[in-house]
Amino acid sequence: MGSEAAAALLGAVRACGQDQLLRFWPQLGPGQRRALLADLATLGPAGLGEHCHRALRAWGQRRHRRDRRRLLRDALQDPPDPADRPLSARLRPLPPDALGGARRHPPHTLRRWELEGFHQIAQNRVAVLLLAGGQGTRLGVTYPKGMYSVGLPSGKTLYQLQAERIRRVEELAGQKSGSRCTVPWYIMTSEFTLGPTARFFEEHGYFGLDPSDVVMFEQRMLPAVTFDGKAILERKDKIAMAPDGNGGLYRALEDNRILEDMEQRGIQYVHVYCVDNILVKMADPVFIGFCVLRGADCGAKVVEKAYPAEPVGVVCQVDGVFQVVEYSEIGPETVQARNPDGSLVYSAGNICNHFFTRSFLETVTREFESLLQPHVAVKKVPYVDEEGNLVTPDKPNGIKMEKFVFDVFQFAKNFVAFEVLREEEFSPLKNADTADKDSPTTARRALLWQHYRWALEAGGRFPRGSPSGVSPDQDPIPGAQEPPAICEISPLVSYFGEGLATYLKDKELQSPFILDEHEAKVLAAA
Ligand code: UTP
Repeated sequence: MGSEAAAALLGAVRACGQDQLLRFWPQLGPGQRRALLADLATLGPAGLGEHCHRALRAWGQRRHRRDRRRLLRDALQDPPDPADRPLSARLRPLPPDALGGARRHPPHTLRRWELEGFHQIAQNRVAVLLLAGGQGTRLGVTYPKGMYSVGLPSGKTLYQLQAERIRRVEELAGQKSGSRCTVPWYIMTSEFTLGPTARFFEEHGYFGLDPSDVVMFEQRMLPAVTFDGKAILERKDKIAMAPDGNGGLYRALEDNRILEDMEQRGIQYVHVYCVDNILVKMADPVFIGFCVLRGADCGAKVVEKAYPAEPVGVVCQVDGVFQVVEYSEIGPETVQARNPDGSLVYSAGNICNHFFTRSFLETVTREFESLLQPHVAVKKVPYVDEEGNLVTPDKPNGIKMEKFVFDVFQFAKNFVAFEVLREEEFSPLKNADTADKDSPTTARRALLWQHYRWALEAGGRFPRGSPSGVSPDQDPIPGAQEPPAICEISPLVSYFGEGLATYLKDKELQSPFILDEHEAKVLAAA
């Protein structure tokens, strides 16, 4: 960039109120100046100013909403203006005809859905899409969350477990149809996660998958902003950037022509999921079959909320439109509301596990993406202090603007939800082990409990299994205790507990017991 253009750019940055970004300018060497100028030119001073302004406004609105909720709660004798109806009056739970689930339907119906799902997979019409662009700040590791190992006996990482589940579901669908099939794996990454994720997959031989069926692509980044609307420097010459939320998916699909890639492969259905749920059932044939046979364009798996104030989003309707509403937005009375049978009215907890038809994704990217409203996420953003030292804050100091993947439910023509059992399908890894929930320990235990149950159901026995009086049947509070015996089953042997009797029926098993492909052969021959 010429010196005149550079001077004009710096002037424009000052004019839009972001001159704090230039406070180290006099100390920067030529290379550092070029780097900062390049960032500023890419963002464009007008775009940067507008983004900071929007973030500040959204932050103000969020605080205002929170204050209003508090005021409304405190002033029950002072009813709200009817023209400004509170959210609780606009909410409706999921209508029963939009909701399916393992406990709501007889086994033969579930089997029909499963057969349909396998049929679609066998026809190469199903892809899985992993949202892996997040920074995982709560977990606090410096590498992508998918590379994390929660301490299973096998040492497997989240990425490896997921890759093996894909291989197994391909194998099962292939066995049923008598032909080979492929479930392509699309992985949305960000500037933070793309490089290390790509290297990790290469180093591990793509965990046995064909590299051409693993498609990584990158989402966009946005500047992080202080609570008074100033973009943050993470180095003297670098603006702190953050991925634009998992709802950045729709722009990223467009930017990277991913839907065209899907079309070329003949993909019609996409199962989208988060990187951090250790129990995720990728390309779940029952869920796929349910959505397909219901003619849905958009679907979500949900779990029953564990308790009224559990901090998960609730899938419901607002003014007749399907949405995910944060529990904190719902209001204390509505959150506690119960049906005559005692169950919670708003119980459909969102687990970021979605079904989309490709044609729905095409419509969203073409027509609706710009209508998605960014949300304020308050995060700890590393920054440089006045002396130029890097500071890692111990409490949130900045705003990131994020779109949410589920905000497209409102555009669905036929939305369905599918309730699954938490202990079988949902244990997210969000926090470090200093937290008592959603940590590496709770995730590891959730998986080991599941495999322990599967082993017992298949007829295996752990003779010295049950220390400390824990019931062998049930994990009382998911992840709260170690299972009575350690049992880990490779997804390459069994994906959802299927087919285990062949190896385990009437067998006496010693904890720790690892059922991998080699052990399976030994046991089958015994
Ligand atoms: P979270 O909301 O848990 O965020 O993401 P996170 O970034 O992983 O973790 P924290 O909040 O910083 O601790 C839920 C899912 O959405 C993905 C994440 O990778 C995870 O699978 N995600 C999140 C993206 O793909 N892109 C984003 O910009 C944000």
